[in-house]
Amino acid sequence: MKINKIIPLSIPNISGNELTYVKDCLETGWISSAGKYVEIFEEKVKNYVGSKYAIACMNGTSGLHVSQLVLGLNPGDHVITPNITFVATLNSIKYNGASPILVDVNLDDWQMDYDLLEEYLEHNTFFKNGYTYVKKTGKPIKIIMPVHVLGNVGDIDKLIFLAKKYNLKIIEDSAESLGSYHNYKHTGTFGDMGVFSFNGNKILSTGGGGIIVTNNNDLAKKAKHLTTQAKISKEEYIHDKIGYNYRMVNILAAVGVAQMEQLTKFLDSKKNMDKFYRNQLSGVGDIEFQKVGDNVKPNCWLFTFRTKRMRNLLEFLNNNGIQSRPFWVPMNQLEMFKNDIYITKSDSSSLIYEQCLSIPSSSGITKIEQLKVVEQIKKFFLK
Ligand SMILES: Cc1ncc(COP(=O)(O)O)c(C=O)c1O
Repeated sequence: MKINKIIPLSIPNISGNELTYVKDCLETGWISSAGKYVEIFEEKVKNYVGSKYAIACMNGTSGLHVSQLVLGLNPGDHVITPNITFVATLNSIKYNGASPILVDVNLDDWQMDYDLLEEYLEHNTFFKNGYTYVKKTGKPIKIIMPVHVLGNVGDIDKLIFLAKKYNLKIIEDSAESLGSYHNYKHTGTFGDMGVFSFNGNKILSTGGGGIIVTNNNDLAKKAKHLTTQAKISKEEYIHDKIGYNYRMVNILAAVGVAQMEQLTKFLDSKKNMDKFYRNQLSGVGDIEFQKVGDNVKPNCWLFTFRTKRMRNLLEFLNNNGIQSRPFWVPMNQLEMFKNDIYITKSDSSSLIYEQCLSIPSSSGITKIEQLKVVEQIKKFFLK
């Protein structure tokens, strides 16, 4: 079959009230960071995820940057995070002059390997004055920042256990996990703070945007303060800290409000797609799916699977109108992070990177497009 149109990997789905609300911003002149849609958006997200507070910001990266600051991260401190993530997770740590401790991931669910981390903490750290210090660097570990990779969720019980035992604050990098639950509790709400992204390829998009959620009033106030230039007077330009111009603008929040109205529809579509791909691709070639725990309800954001023939399949699909992408290069392999601590035994991250492939997963993908994707993958494995 000749395919003329490319089936995209993951594009926004603008099919609701987006234009009406943006028009409202333009017509009333409320286009910047003050305006009703920012607060409506925050209200909708916090009600949806079940957090007490939400602070909308420019993007997920800025949310991660500020969350670390309000939790008291200082230059030189360590932050624990998985080795398989998008580079922004790591960049946000480096913005604060802190040092990541990279943890290898599990081969089955592709999330942080907490057993490996536990072993490391037991043998390579010491506890002094309420903090856990790394023996090798003499620096404290202040924060653990798990990433809910692809909207899947790892071992939350172990995460909380380790955070308590070693007195670590938790920031969940929930950039990809809006709509994902663990034991009926929404991601982003297990730790001290959670951060979501509304980047163009996410399940819900504002073009670019992010939001911090927390149940702690003090942290919420500090995050709002820092994201809005740390201004302490309404009328006068008095600031008490180095603040940031990180507040989400009203036009983008207007898009976000319209998108939140459709979130259930987006999630249903992704879940049906996930079911279809799993049914159709099960037993095809050497394909292996990402494992999802019994207590996890993922948002099925971006369908990704493993195959030893990843590179050839990637080329084949991209040449045949099916936009596909490899997984992230493991963080320890990037020049900027190659000297940071990397906890591993068998470097599963490398294998995951060499074998994982993401295929078209937009919430607006049609059944016919899904069939075409499957057809091409089957064709490849028959060759
Ligand atoms: C895991 C992860 N962390 C952080 C980010 C950064 O979010 P943003 O692009 O909104 O800054 C993204 C997505 O882009 C992501 O996938």
